[in-house]
Amino acid sequence: MEEEFFDSVIIGRGLAGLSTAIETTKEKNTAVFFSEEKKSFESSSFNAQGGISAAIAKNDLVKEHFNDTVRAGAGLCEEKIVKILVEKGKEKVLELIEQGFEFDENEKGISLGLEAGHSKNRVLHADGDNIGREITKFYFKLAKEKNIHFFPEQTLKEVIIENNSGKAAVFEDFTAKFNSLVFASGGYSSLYGKSTNPKGNLGEANSIALKAGVHLMDLEFEQFHPTTIKGNNFLLSETLRGEGAFLVNDLNEKFMRKFEGKDLATRDIVSQEIFLQINSGRKVFLDCTKIENLKQRFPSIYKKTRELGLKIEEKAIEIEPAAHYSIGGIKIDENARTNIRNIFAAGECSCSGLHGANRLASNSLLEAMVFGSIAGRNSLKEKNEKSKTKIELKTKESNSDFNLNNLKELMRNFVGIQRNENGLKKALQEIRKMQENNSTFLAEKIIESALNREESRGCHFRTDFPETKKNAVHSVLSE
Ligand code: SIN
Repeated sequence: MEEEFFDSVIIGRGLAGLSTAIETTKEKNTAVFFSEEKKSFESSSFNAQGGISAAIAKNDLVKEHFNDTVRAGAGLCEEKIVKILVEKGKEKVLELIEQGFEFDENEKGISLGLEAGHSKNRVLHADGDNIGREITKFYFKLAKEKNIHFFPEQTLKEVIIENNSGKAAVFEDFTAKFNSLVFASGGYSSLYGKSTNPKGNLGEANSIALKAGVHLMDLEFEQFHPTTIKGNNFLLSETLRGEGAFLVNDLNEKFMRKFEGKDLATRDIVSQEIFLQINSGRKVFLDCTKIENLKQRFPSIYKKTRELGLKIEEKAIEIEPAAHYSIGGIKIDENARTNIRNIFAAGECSCSGLHGANRLASNSLLEAMVFGSIAGRNSLKEKNEKSKTKIELKTKESNSDFNLNNLKELMRNFVGIQRNENGLKKALQEIRKMQENNSTFLAEKIIESALNREESRGCHFRTDFPETKKNAVHSVLSE
């Protein structure tokens, strides 16, 4: 098997991976591995529609962004991490503007949208609803100016760790030895039957990390986005509601009006209510007909709905929630460090406690930028002895009899917006009958975490334990 040594190995080239990579220096040999084709940009960051939140308005304060993040997180946020995000995040956004990134503007300057759970308009956007595409491309350009090697179509198989130190990342026909490794491999929402994520987001790297000895945290917190087109995974951004869209059922009831925050209540509350409406036989619609300049402000949504034969500016669109963001992931501290000396993680595959039990909208691109950069800087300081370790794969994986769709349906039906002991145990039992692979392994861990959390908090709702416990604790997993 071909083998090469790198100072820094990065798994993933979404925004977190690119933010990590651009911290590299001329002297360092940095490699970015990703499983997609070279020309494909697809990632959750690339697909992001909403924006990046930062308290840059004159009437806003980082303290208020902090408070909104902590409030949404339902008692489980790590406050020192939130503080880093809102402070460093604002600096990053201002730096981006200085570097020439063009956020959308209006007559007053940078145009700031509103999303659920934010007490102020603080969501910056670009080319309407194409912030993900624009910012990923911008970072990719910065990365190309550095000494970075990109390795497309490389599927990670295993990470070798010895004496609490990472040694090598093993791909199908290539081994990368390293001084440090950064996981920036995205979330696991595509383990669910209906998801807004690219289909490869199955949390493979999280499984590999856990099997190798890296700790994971809070896997039970899967965030569901309230508004995707019914029968289709396409997202209808929350910023539509920020611009005046509202939810309505087939009895013409504006059912969110009774909640604090109304249509812009936090995502856990909106998803729960839509779930209950649909389960009681109602159809739920997003009415965007009052939005001015919809075609200009939301060009991708306008185009996609047209392709589907829907006239979003004239008629409300039937919607349903979908798995959207994995809050849980590889446990990291404020330095993006895992429990293994030279292994780091950033972005959606990581879990620092930043989002608590419910992520505040538009905090994730910011997280990818801030913690990617922290991981990048810290990882460059690590040094490994050049190891002569003979690489032997422990995992022998074969996916022959495995039907991913069956797994996804179990996750959707029994590990979704509402869970209970019976359903979780049934899913676990069925999954244990399947052939083991990284997807079933992670699904089992998610379910075990959901079973162990005998309370409801944020986006984890147990019908058999509807109360929130007084003490908020994280679920930490080690193999
Ligand atoms: C959206 O545009 O509604 C998604 C934003 C996010 O998930 O942060």
